[in-house]
Amino acid sequence: MKEKISNHLSEIQDFKAESIEKIEAFRIKYLGSKGLLKQLFSEFKEIDPSLKKEIGQSLNNLRNAANDKINELKDALDNNLSEKKVYGDLTRPGESIELGARHPISIVKNQIIEVFSRIGFTVSEGPEIEDDWHNFTALNLPEYHPARDMQDTFFIETDPDILLRTHTSSVQVRYMESHKPPIRTISPGRVFRNEDISARSHCIFHQIEGLYIDTDVSFADLKQTLLYFTKEMFGKSKIRLRPSYFPFTEPSAEVDIYWGLETETDYKITKGTGWLEIMGCGMVDPNVLKNADIDPEKYTGYAFGMGIERIAMLLYQIPDIRMFYENDIRFLEQFKSEI
Ligand code: DAH
Repeated sequence: MKEKISNHLSEIQDFKAESIEKIEAFRIKYLGSKGLLKQLFSEFKEIDPSLKKEIGQSLNNLRNAANDKINELKDALDNNLSEKKVYGDLTRPGESIELGARHPISIVKNQIIEVFSRIGFTVSEGPEIEDDWHNFTALNLPEYHPARDMQDTFFIETDPDILLRTHTSSVQVRYMESHKPPIRTISPGRVFRNEDISARSHCIFHQIEGLYIDTDVSFADLKQTLLYFTKEMFGKSKIRLRPSYFPFTEPSAEVDIYWGLETETDYKITKGTGWLEIMGCGMVDPNVLKNADIDPEKYTGYAFGMGIERIAMLLYQIPDIRMFYENDIRFLEQFKSEI
């Protein structure tokens, strides 16, 4: 028996294998439920008690050697595999690098910027954390003005003068304070309102503000610019201006475009009318010009403001505003081919 054990031991020590299948066959041969060690241990029960100590020890050694061998071969195989991954076949085609997609809000924002930059508008930005003056007071919304309630505001708890801007109209004021007319600028940015989140509205969204100030700017200029924009952006050339109210413009209007009633979705999004509201606009109120030290006797201007999410939802038929902020890769990936 001693000899048998030592033969097996040298067989185990000399064993080599380069595949997981061979290692497994080896394991079954020695350590399996009907393996050699099992057999040897049952033979061991029959031997002379005086030999038991010595043979028992060599049997244990044999079992340990088989286990060690298996671990050693498996480790070698793992190392070999990971090395092959790096240095293996150098003529293999490389792994392709997945390109990301631009966020639909950025795509639409860039498109709007592009359309307005073609007619001489520059891009300007302002802070998201604003003071009362730029967000409200300078825009003809003094303290206690009822129209302040049109936009539920997030205030900074310790200072009622500081807030999260509720619209990008605040950038109008900043721009007029630091630039002299002629002014042609659009201001994209994030805005905040203390509103319940639903499929239609969110407490964080994006707007683009437009401002044009020069001598002799008229409402006709505003209308022509809006017409140009809707043609370029949506390919639609029928718009209407509905009288409205904003404290910072006089007169003020809301802009609707004729979307049509060709599909079922058209019916749904236009509530059966064919018309869709896309922005607010008007002639800059003389008080707003005065607040920014621009002489309203000399200069006039127009302004407009639109929600980027709303426009993206129309263009891509996105049914729920929350989809923009969930970062679901299955949603975002669909915009890969866009600019
Ligand atoms: N600030 C308005 C809002 O958030 C949008 C707006 C309306 C901007 C008319 C303007 C404007 O510049 O003239 O609802």
